[in-house]
Amino acid sequence: MDIPRSALPPGVLSLHILPAEHHDRDWDAIIVPREVKERLLAQALLVLQHGRKLSMLAGLPHGLIVLAGPPGTGKTTMARGLAQVAALALARQGATALVEINPHAFPSDMLGESQRNVTRLLTETIPEIAARRPHVIVLIDEVESFAVRRSSASFDANPVDVHRATDAVLLGIDEIAKNLPSVLFVTTTNFIEAVDEAFLSRADLVMTFSLPDRETIGKILEHALGELAVQWPSLQAMTEDAAKLSELAALCEGWDGLRIRKLVLAALAQRLDVARDPSTLSWDDLMTAARKKGGVEWAGGRAPTSRELFPDVPKELMHDHDHGHALHDDQHDHDHSHGHRHTHTHQKDEV
Ligand SMILES: Nc1ncnc2c1ncn2[C@@H]1O[C@H](COP(=O)(O)OP(=O)(O)O)[C@@H](O)[C@H]1O
Ligand SMILES: [Mg+2]
Repeated sequence: MDIPRSALPPGVLSLHILPAEHHDRDWDAIIVPREVKERLLAQALLVLQHGRKLSMLAGLPHGLIVLAGPPGTGKTTMARGLAQVAALALARQGATALVEINPHAFPSDMLGESQRNVTRLLTETIPEIAARRPHVIVLIDEVESFAVRRSSASFDANPVDVHRATDAVLLGIDEIAKNLPSVLFVTTTNFIEAVDEAFLSRADLVMTFSLPDRETIGKILEHALGELAVQWPSLQAMTEDAAKLSELAALCEGWDGLRIRKLVLAALAQRLDVARDPSTLSWDDLMTAARKKGGVEWAGGRAPTSRELFPDVPKELMHDHDHGHALHDDQHDHDHSHGHRHTHTHQKDEV
């Protein structure tokens, strides 16, 4: 169940009630050693399920997980996946609300404003959600802009204001740890040096994601090809060719997971024929794309003109006016204007 964006409190990017159909994909997509997923899930369940009892301890948990590491290593996807899997584990005890915070919704350039917004979020919005659902997971992506390291806050923003906002974050997290001990914060950062030290010291778990090794790269490629094979079944055989997969993986050493997945797309776009019929993808396309690092070589002969490429498009498929005509003028050009409207209003909930 997803709550429409217009009904969301300020600073909240989305609110999902989990477990939900179609939310399994994230957890499954991220290929990391078993130990990593298990540790993460155990940490989450400990707080969500036993937070109240553990809050009696002198060393109480803050219910805070930090996922750190280079961009494209799966932190955000893993955080979302964790919410669904924890919700599956707890489903019989009640639903789990996943609240995604928009860290950029707290501009630090207005005096006192961002401090007030953070305070409202942590002392009103989250407690209100927690009053309605037994389990709450708060996802703060790119937390370095939310809990700015005070010792290095010398940017263009007013440093006093940054201090106050970070203070408000720490205060709010402490209050929630005491009063709502089964609320779990899962945060991510590409830039842990920019996250406030006191915030980090409150984390029950700081997990550092690294770039995939050669074996993992092979598995990511296999997974990516497997996804293509769902749409174009003739590609299934490629996922079973271990020798080729490992040859390709060797070319991708040092790449992050996002880039590895994009390689498969780049391979589909090496040749026009393949782009138009992906079932004709070859190992050669994949290797070539990898050698070009997913990019393009600024080389080759004269490129054909548009009509040389597509000489035989029938006249009746050519539209009359192709200049930016008004969107409401859709009598003549039905498909076109509809296409426009659609892309502008379509809302995806799981991107
Ligand atoms: N270890 C991995 N295994 C499989 N896919 C990965 C991995 N790391 C990244 N990816 C791919 O890259 C995409 C983007 O990752 P993302 O979660 O946005 O990374 P981050 O938040 O670390 O920048 C993921 O959806 C996934 O498809
Ligand atoms: Mg991310």
